[in-house]
Amino acid sequence: MNPLHGDEGEEVREDHQEPVREAADILRSGGIVAFPTETVYGLGAVAFNESAVARIFEAKQRPRFDPLIVHVGGFDQVSRLVKEIHPSARLLMERFWPGPLTIVLPKAPGVPDLVTAGLPTVAVRMPRHPLALELIRRTGEPIAAPSANPFGSTSPTKMQHVVDGLGGKVDMVLDGGDCPVGIESTIVSFASDRPALLRPGGVALEELEAVIGPLPVAPSSGNNAVLAPGMLPRHYAPRTPVRVLSGSILPPQDGATRIGVLAFQGIPRSETFAAVEVLSEFGDLREAAKHLFSALRRLDQQNLDVIVAQKFPDVGLGLAINDRLMRASGCG
Ligand code: TXA
Ligand code: MG
Repeated sequence: MNPLHGDEGEEVREDHQEPVREAADILRSGGIVAFPTETVYGLGAVAFNESAVARIFEAKQRPRFDPLIVHVGGFDQVSRLVKEIHPSARLLMERFWPGPLTIVLPKAPGVPDLVTAGLPTVAVRMPRHPLALELIRRTGEPIAAPSANPFGSTSPTKMQHVVDGLGGKVDMVLDGGDCPVGIESTIVSFASDRPALLRPGGVALEELEAVIGPLPVAPSSGNNAVLAPGMLPRHYAPRTPVRVLSGSILPPQDGATRIGVLAFQGIPRSETFAAVEVLSEFGDLREAAKHLFSALRRLDQQNLDVIVAQKFPDVGLGLAINDRLMRASGCG
């Protein structure tokens, strides 16, 4: 496997070469570029360039207490970022990189405080998307990148989402089409000797536990909000109020309210709702994750009074989908 081209052996398309070169030039000269990853679009700057990283916080209106993930293009770049690698962290990196897994490790002294929000740790990930890998390789530096959306809003899974949210505030948007995973990376912290799951995401908890054993889920409130601010209760939120229901979704009684539904496989009497988005007709959680944020955005544009979302099974990527739905509803 060549880590520079992803585990699917995908090469960067010929027509993407020039835009990637241009994006790398912009990053090297201190600019900020939105780029596709397999999870969601990121907004990147060279991690060691503090003033460029500061522009990311400005563009996103992101509070400075919320640290960024640093993206690497190869294992060689990790040693400049971290002080030590826990043996279980190493196992996870070897098994799941490149891919939708972020590992939090004690940081190396050279990593700017702005990137880590002053924490003694740094979050590191090697993305699998061929454009992201090529961009990091051509830039020759690790790239700090949060999701490319205004702080607190739904993450972008298409170039148009980035343009809608941040157009005009970034130096370039690299178009890589739809993000194939569609939900952010799983974050595992090795801040202490005992690893913990900070955020469920594109790699299922079961897959991680198969490699390193039981992985406790960090509680999502109180002081942990500062340890991983993406865990703030209201996050990934559309403007329309979202309710998550674990039972069946009943048609509106009087038609007075415009109700939109976000359903896993479909719902009976869907014609009685103002709008319905079905995430995966055949009940595939990966497909559902891929469509989640686009569907939420479409519902949000339809002037609904409320979006009712069906709770997903708490297995595989269902855990991450439920996490995002709960946060969109303000009850993370
Ligand atoms: O899939 C992803 O992870 C995408 C793509 C672009 O890579 N990125 C992403 O970044 O979702 P962002 O900034 O939207 O979410 C990163 C989360 C935040 O909740 C942040 O608080 C947490 O990672 N984080 C970053 N550094 C951390 C650290 N040192 N300790 C704990 N949490 C950290
Ligand atoms: Mg984000």
